[in-house]
Formats: sequence, structure tokens, C-alpha cells
Amino acid sequence: MCGIVGYIGHQDCGEILLNGLRRLEYRGYDSAGIAINTPEGLRVSRAEGKLTNLERAYLAEPFNGSQGLGHTRWATHGGPTEINAHPHQAGRVVLAHNGIIENYSELKEELAKAGREFLSATDTEVAAHLIDHQFELGATDLHDAVRRALGRMEGSYALVVMDTQDPDCLVVARFASPMVLGKGQGESFAASDVPAVLEHTREFVFLEDGDTAVLRADSMQVFDDAGNEVERTSRHINWDPISAEKQGYKHFMLKEIFEQPARIVDTLRGRVNVESGDVDLAEVDIDAEWLAGARKLVFVACGTSYYAAMVGKYLIERVAKIPVEVDLASEFRYRYPVIDEHTLCVAISQSGETADTLAAMRLAREHGAKAMAICNVIESTIARESDGVLYTHAGPEIGVASTKAFTTQLAAVSMLAVWLGRRRETIDADTGRVLLEELRGVPTAMEEMLVDHAIYEGIAHQFANAHSFLFLGRGVVYPIALEGALKLKEISYIHAEGYASGEMKHGPIALIDEEMPVVVVAPKNIVYEKTLSNVQEVLARDGRVISIVTEGDTHMPEISDVVIEMPDVGEFVQPMVASVAVQLLAYHIADFKGTDVDQPRNLAKSVTVE
Ligand code: G6P
Repeated sequence: MCGIVGYIGHQDCGEILLNGLRRLEYRGYDSAGIAINTPEGLRVSRAEGKLTNLERAYLAEPFNGSQGLGHTRWATHGGPTEINAHPHQAGRVVLAHNGIIENYSELKEELAKAGREFLSATDTEVAAHLIDHQFELGATDLHDAVRRALGRMEGSYALVVMDTQDPDCLVVARFASPMVLGKGQGESFAASDVPAVLEHTREFVFLEDGDTAVLRADSMQVFDDAGNEVERTSRHINWDPISAEKQGYKHFMLKEIFEQPARIVDTLRGRVNVESGDVDLAEVDIDAEWLAGARKLVFVACGTSYYAAMVGKYLIERVAKIPVEVDLASEFRYRYPVIDEHTLCVAISQSGETADTLAAMRLAREHGAKAMAICNVIESTIARESDGVLYTHAGPEIGVASTKAFTTQLAAVSMLAVWLGRRRETIDADTGRVLLEELRGVPTAMEEMLVDHAIYEGIAHQFANAHSFLFLGRGVVYPIALEGALKLKEISYIHAEGYASGEMKHGPIALIDEEMPVVVVAPKNIVYEKTLSNVQEVLARDGRVISIVTEGDTHMPEISDVVIEMPDVGEFVQPMVASVAVQLLAYHIADFKGTDVDQPRNLAKSVTVE
């Protein structure tokens, strides 16, 4: 959600900024712009919609220079128009901003009284004026002006600012919005996320909340909240920039679906020890004695990550015998949750920056809970603020609809279940061994699911015109029915609803007729027979059944229009394997319809506002 790239150095930066924005497209946006300080003065190019529009506008009248910034905007204050697109200029100040300035209307009124005129409806333009105004009030340089202005701003921000009168520096600020700095040879970068500039540098500095920084071609100074110069640790990032490309797949989403077996291997590596029946989570700094006495576990998450948490509840309650609550982070924040020092709060977030999840985790900690994160982005805010992080090694996920991040989260909650079970002594080494053996078999089972797409193409052909889909699941795969419905509506724009099979007769059954495709996730497990009865109820109303079943099953296929088979895997890992089927189903329907699979309308990859 909003992406920023800033450059100061020795090269012309037009291409660098545009390529950087391209790498940040996954965050979701609805307008974009770049500003460069050229030898002839400041030039700005902005456009509504996709980056291709910006590129067209820029290439029609190109300009260049070695100090610049770019931005992709996801509209909050003011519609997604060219005039509201960043960068914004006020006097000598030009900036791009991610986040929300909560007291912007009060500041705007004050600045208007001081004679300032505003062209856009954005809170960002107010920030630009506020900073420029500081020069009138005696600020000595851009860093001083930015720091003075920040003292007046409430809310969240990641800012990259330049002064048209000082071509040698960029000033960066961060509070509750992501921002990283990249160190190159004779050049410095600022960006919302690592992939934006990974082709230029591997050395990154991660700012903390309240930090500001002054970037020059050959130096980088970071200051804390109080204005003291500080050292922030620099990290070498090994990600392969090629892995952020499509590698011949039609869409990033498809590439990411195919990557899942390998990413799950990466996530399990070094942690799962089948021989000892245990999991090594040395990175989670919570001691075994505390865990043994923990009274409950609370998951907080949003979107797809929330469904990973739901699977976590089924697995952890079964294996570790600890009560598990699962909360939507946006609800948890305002429902007066009962949390104490015997609670383990686990925040699940691919990006590690989702505003609601972060706030929910902070709230739990304020109430004395220990906080753990399951996160995909190293050094993200949620990762940094927790007592321990279990990183999913999904690599950068570009498709807005989450796939490999989800299944690696499922791998993480499965490991967590065994880890907790062993520490709380609710399972012994033998049981641990059985569960981990199942987990180790997942990548192979997933590979099998990926081989033949003809079945999904056929379903797309047959059902892409349906107005609505119902997804049913029961027990451990109920969350996969919910995720399947979410995936389909996200990328194909077909209405879809996920429901617990046993609940169908309490409402959705009224919707079923010969027009309604019903996807039933029904591998062989303890609730299989129950699900079979639920599907009979669908059939009795002429519903059209697409079932996802264990290979060799003969009962469900008898009453299904279409059958998708999955390998015969244990219940513990069925959610991971069944996920591939619902992902491919959604993907092929969306592809058949010709929607923008990787960047569906109105969605953002990383939601950093409440
Ligand atoms: C957005 C994304 C979803 C994601 C959700 C939570 O809505 O489009 O794919 O599941 O945010 O994101 P997180 O990064 O916290 O997992």
C-alpha cells in the first residue's frame, strides 16, 4: 500500500525510480509519480492508474538528474487523480509520503491562514507545506525543517523529502510505516521495501520508528527521535532479484503457486527434526517453563493470514492442548479482550506491516502477554516488536492475492503445534515423529497437485459465468473453504462465500439451485462422512458440486459434477495440500475471465492504514 523510492547519487535516476516502483507494484496502488531535480530545475511527472500511464507520460517528455523520488499511491485522502498523486511540491520542498497524517485538517487550516494554497485534497501536500513553512520559521536546512515539522504531525508516515535548493541530499523519516535505506557505491537509496532497489545494492539499513536520516551520494546519517545521531545495524540481504521476476509464468500468482513446495522446504529447513520428533525454534526467545504454564494462545491476523490462524487453532488445540482464540486484528483492538501475563499472542502477517495486526499485538503486550510473530518480511515492524519471530521463508510475494505466503504460514503453525506440544508435554517423541513425517511429505504432495491443470481449465470453462460460488469445508479444512472463497472473489470478482459444511443448512442452503456451483473441500478425515451427508443436501437442491477429495475416494465422486483429487495425506497437513486446489481453481477462473490477476482492482498487498 503506497510505495516509495528515493535516489541520490552519480547516475541519472529516471529509470532507477521507475524500475523501483515496478518492483513495488505488489503493494497495490492507483496512481503514481516521479520527481527529479534536473540541471534545469525540478521536473515532475504523475499519472492516474497503472505505471504504464506514468511511463508513457514520462517518456513523452523525458527528464533526468541524480536526485529524485518516486511514489505509487493507494488513495486515502482524496481520489486517485493525477492532482492527488505524489510527489507533492510546496515552495522548495518536494516529497512522497506513505501513511496517514491524522491532524492534517487542523494543520491545513493553520497553514492556509499563513497564506499557503493547496492544489490537492491530500494530507501529503499539507506535510510538504508544513516542512517548507519551517524555512520561514528559521529552519537551517532540510533535515532541521523536516524534524521541526514532524514535531507537529500526528499519525503514521514514511517520508522521502528533497530540497530543490540542495541537490546533494535526501531526507528520510519513518514512523509506523515501512522504510529501508540502501547503501550503494557512490549512491544511496530509500524505499518502502527491499525488492525496489535490490538490483542496485545488497546493503540495507532498517530505520526504527521516530528515526530520520540524511542521505548523500557517499554517506548516510541516521538520527533517533531525540535528534541524536545513531548507528542502525546494516544487513546484507541475499534475496535473488530474479526471484522477483515472473520467470516465464503468465502471472506472478501462478509462479508463486508453483514455488510453494520449494518455499515450504525452506520454511521447514533447520527446524524440523523428524528423528527426535521435535521442532527447533531457537529464534523464538520464550522459555519452555513459561510455555508449559501458558493458559491460552491468541492469534491475531487479517485477510488470508487470519485463515492460517484458524488452521492453527485446529492443529494447536489438538496437539498442544492449549485453548486457542483466533481474532481478526481489527476486531481484537476494540473488543476489550481478556489477556494477561499467561497469554501467548501470535501475530500472523506476511508483510509484518499490517496496521491492525501490529496494533493488536501491541495491545496484547500492554496487557502483559508474550508476543510472537509469524512473518515473511525480515526486520518488518511486527517482527521487530515481538518477543520472537518464526520467519516463513516464502521469499518476496508479488501477486496481491496471497498464495505461497499462506501455505508457508500453514507450515509455521504446524511446526508451532508440535513445538508447543513437546514443550507442554502433551505429545511424546513418537507422536511428534509421526506429525513431522507428515509435514515433511507436504512438498511432494503439492508437486503432484501442480502437474495437471486441465481439470481447472475445464472448471473455468464451465463455471466462469456463475454469479456466485459457495465453498464448504469442515474441521481442519474449513478455513481452506474460506480461503478458497476469498481467493476467488479477490481475483475473479465473482461473489463467493465460504461456509462450514455443517452450518449450510442454517442459511446458505436457501441459495442453492442449479445455477450455484458448490466447491466442497472433503479429504478423508474424521468428518468425511459428515461432509458427505452435507453434500447430499446440496445435491437434493440441484446444486452443482465440485469436490476436492482424497485420491481413490469413490463416494464423493458419485455425487459430484467435477472431482479434483489430492494425494492421501494425514489430516494434520490436509489444509496445506488442499490449498493448492482452491488457489488453482481461483487462478484459472480469473485467467479465463481475463481479470488483472496479479493486481486485482481496489486491493492492496500491504495494508498499512487502519
Ligand atoms: C491485504 C492483502 C492480503 C493479506 C492481508 C493481510 O489485504 O491483500 O493478501 O492477507 O492484507 O496482510 P499481512 O501482510 O498482514 O499478512
